[in-house]
Amino acid sequence: MRPETLAIRTQTERTGEKEHSTPMFLTSSFVYDSAEDMAAAFADDTLDVNIYSRFSNPTVDEFIKKICILEGAEDGIATATGMAAIYSSFMTFLSSGDHMISASAVFGSTHTILTKYLPKWGIQYSYFNMNKPEEIASLIKPNTKVLYLETPSNPGLDIIDMNYVSALCKKHNILFIVDNCFATPAVQQPIKFGADLVLHSATKFIDGQGRVLGGVVVGKKDLIKQLYLFVRNTGPSLSPFNAWVLTKSLETLFVRMDKHAENAFHIARALENNPALSWVKYPFLESHPQYAIAKQQMKNGGGVLTFELKAGLEGGRKFLNNLTWLSMTNNLGDTRTIASHPASTTHSKLTEAERQEVGISPGLIRLSVGLEHPDDIVEEIIQALNK
Ligand SMILES: Cc1ncc(COP(=O)(O)O)c(C=O)c1O
Repeated sequence: MRPETLAIRTQTERTGEKEHSTPMFLTSSFVYDSAEDMAAAFADDTLDVNIYSRFSNPTVDEFIKKICILEGAEDGIATATGMAAIYSSFMTFLSSGDHMISASAVFGSTHTILTKYLPKWGIQYSYFNMNKPEEIASLIKPNTKVLYLETPSNPGLDIIDMNYVSALCKKHNILFIVDNCFATPAVQQPIKFGADLVLHSATKFIDGQGRVLGGVVVGKKDLIKQLYLFVRNTGPSLSPFNAWVLTKSLETLFVRMDKHAENAFHIARALENNPALSWVKYPFLESHPQYAIAKQQMKNGGGVLTFELKAGLEGGRKFLNNLTWLSMTNNLGDTRTIASHPASTTHSKLTEAERQEVGISPGLIRLSVGLEHPDDIVEEIIQALNK
């Protein structure tokens, strides 16, 4: 079966109730038939039995299984949030004295983990510019263990050639981790391009309707086993309720991502020559600096675009205030179109130089394009620009 079908038809084994839609196993723990079975479950952590929902749960497992199929991965674990997926990965594969390399253009909280927490535990990091992948080789040290990046990046939409990065990582025995949150596996599968681990904030397009938080990491079995033990013992596990919402969402992931991308491309082209804007950035616009790589790695351009207001920082605030129905919020990957102004909100604590380094200019607006009629979205943006 094809991934589009498997995203719908992969399901926890039907119970005696003969349910059609997948059931939700909202239970903290599981029971045993005998004292011997219970003892065995605790004695051998390779046994495929449910003990406690911090360790495993059938609804969570269904969600993980689907993501593994869609990403082309051997195994996976789910976490309570995207940040828990990122943090757990760093904690599992890095030790005191190690070094990691990261794209400087990463989500704000990831930046905080790298700059504020990892150094506290003796883990050093080096940043590279997503637009200068040739810089990476010079940053590799004997103790470099992990290379981390997002492609496309949030919010700059920078794209990197994953084949190039994975070849470097293989040569130097470095674990290559990709945050695939912006593309989703319906658009891009980083494992095909050599990533060792792929992770997501499932809060975004995987949920797709702005309801629950979640995260997931997939990759080779031996790596996931190590991550599983970290999550099982430290506790950032995904709740079965959220897993149920997310696994149901995966049934519509492909159709949603196609429509998000169709709408985003339409809007990007409609805004391209608008006199109020300096530029419009979208992976599948020929003007995108890494257009050729985007075409090679991605099935479509995804659901996020950015544009720069000529009126700068003040223009960004005004633009948001001029919106009549489009949502002003920091989330993304929703059926509802969302506008955000990183320079005055999510990235306001960075210095001007830091913002420049990660591609956040004063008038940058990030648009997470929803599933409304594209002409309504264009009209709403144009009226806000014209006011
Ligand atoms: C690219 C990216 N990675 C990770 C995260 C963190 O995810 P969560 O909010 O689910 O912890 C976000 C959140 O916006 C994100 O955009």
